Amino acid sequence: MQIEFKVNGKSCSLDICPTMRLIDLLRDELGLTGTKEGCGEGECGACTVIIDGEAVNSCLVLAPQVRGKEIITVEGLAGDGELDSLQQKFIEHSAVECGFCTPGMLMSAKALLMKNPHPSEEEIRQALAGNLCRCSGYSKIIEAVKDVASLS
Ligand code: FES
Ligand code: FES
Repeated sequence: MQIEFKVNGKSCSLDICPTMRLIDLLRDELGLTGTKEGCGEGECGACTVIIDGEAVNSCLVLAPQVRGKEIITVEGLAGDGELDSLQQKFIEHSAVECGFCTPGMLMSAKALLMKNPHPSEEEIRQALAGNLCRCSGYSKIIEAVKDVASLS
């Protein structure tokens, strides 16, 4: 089946299998391998992307469900050679260890900040509650997001 949608501001039209998952569409068809697959069943958040402003686990979405929608992946955060402020603060706070969870963390945090530029720590923790990190202990990630929230 043919579907049209936007990814990172670019229009896409693809002929896909109706049972394809969004994560496979992004990684295998579009080469956007920044989106990671951890559990494949909605538990880890590594595959988080933003669809029409909402953070969504792309392993749980079928590709036909994004028809007419606008997707942002981690590749869409940096623009014109400049890192997004979230990416910059993750670096400054050493909030990345192995990095596997990082794209999902960034996209969940970005979805929060798009809706609420000045979230409380509790709201940040709530927004990241579905994202698991095996390495960092979370505190540096929370501090990085808090730092961005205090910028503007
Ligand atoms: S890979 Fe999608 S939630 Fe874990
Ligand atoms: S930095 Fe390794 S899983 Fe989070």
